[in-house]
Amino acid sequence: MLATPDLAFRNDVLAGLAAAIPAVPARWLYDERGSELFDAITRLPSYYPTATETALLERIAPELGRRIQSNVAVIEFGSGSSTKTPLLLEAIKPAAYVPVDISGEFLEKSAEELRANIPALPVLPVTADFRLAFTLPNQIAGLPKLGFFPGSTIGNFVPRSATDLLRHFRELLGTGAMLLIGMDRVKPVERLLAAYDEPEGVTASFNLNLVERINRELEGTIPVEAFRHEVRWNDILSRIEMHLVAKRDVDFTVSGKAFAFRAGESIHTENSHKYGRRGARMLLLAGGWTPVDEWTDANGDFSIVLAEAQPNRSAP
Ligand code: AVI
Repeated sequence: MLATPDLAFRNDVLAGLAAAIPAVPARWLYDERGSELFDAITRLPSYYPTATETALLERIAPELGRRIQSNVAVIEFGSGSSTKTPLLLEAIKPAAYVPVDISGEFLEKSAEELRANIPALPVLPVTADFRLAFTLPNQIAGLPKLGFFPGSTIGNFVPRSATDLLRHFRELLGTGAMLLIGMDRVKPVERLLAAYDEPEGVTASFNLNLVERINRELEGTIPVEAFRHEVRWNDILSRIEMHLVAKRDVDFTVSGKAFAFRAGESIHTENSHKYGRRGARMLLLAGGWTPVDEWTDANGDFSIVLAEAQPNRSAP
């Protein structure tokens, strides 16, 4: 028997497949299998963002240690299982660490690991969808705050939603807070395409896993072999797009609703926006964060920006 389907997933899939430009929000790529596949992606030689950001963070850690006051509380949005977080925490020695993640199980596991590795650090996990309203633990009420949003996850939001998200972070952390954010850079198209469509086929499996998830969780009848992974560079919107393209005419049902895709039609499954230096700064400013410093690897592939929630002033 099938478990009760996630209604939000069902609504997004049914509405998304019926839309004039069929699309399913990218967050549904991350079920257990999808998260494992994403983890494997981060270790692929062609997927440069993870290794580049980690090396960059390692390089700038001493400077961050000097720059950021050690009584801050670090709040990480969508905390990962990565090596990046310990790097930051060891460099700045904060007063507390608040990982925020939608998966409570995953959070507890990584919190335990951190407590074992850095016993002096209070780790205060919060199970929440960081896009929505939530409250920070009382224990950090009086502390200065540093938001940490690595991985260029901001790139997965269209600029309008990215701006909303940054404003939400500002609201949550308050005036005077700092934000350390990783942002992937615009670069030659061939390198971008290679990072999202590599010979190993892991990203293709990650994308096609969405079809398998729909079949499994929403009583879907989609023939998986009828779709292929396609990556496009959308130059005008400065983003990589992932699509699932129908290889042939195909009819199927999802939760009893019928759909028909003609050969060549696609389901848009993810955006990954790439920013130039000025574009990145403008996005942060529009979201209420004033960039105060920026670091980039030697090839200019990836940047980490430190921004501050300065008091609002609209004059002159
Ligand atoms: C999580 N996010 C920043 C990744 C990216 O690069 O946009 C997701 C991803 N999709 C395919 N490969 C990686």
